[in-house]
Amino acid sequence: MNCVINLSRFYVCELDQLGDGEIVQITPPARPPIAVFRVDDQLYATDDTCTHGQALLSEGDVDDDFVVECPWHGGTFDIRTGEALSFPCVLPLKVYPVQLEDGKVYVDVLAGAVKAG
Ligand code: FES
Repeated sequence: MNCVINLSRFYVCELDQLGDGEIVQITPPARPPIAVFRVDDQLYATDDTCTHGQALLSEGDVDDDFVVECPWHGGTFDIRTGEALSFPCVLPLKVYPVQLEDGKVYVDVLAGAVKAG
């Protein structure tokens, strides 16, 4: 019998532990921290570290338009694509696939990719 273990899928939390408009940080082993967002009952995940400095976006604010604001200098990103939207942020974030299964939230921590140009 073959046994396949998916080592890239990281458990985040129960869905009901992440309220709408909230951000939670996960710290997968040997990987950079990832911010997981719930906005308008959709789930998204991006790099947690701002591309302008070392601020954590999970300590910032996300709005109903899927925009997270960095807590240090106010740069913004679209959490759906990772696109940098406003100065001083110009480089995009990686975004990660998020899965919801049996009320549990998971992130594929090895599948992060830059989607925005
Ligand atoms: S560290 Fe995020 S905008 Fe400067």
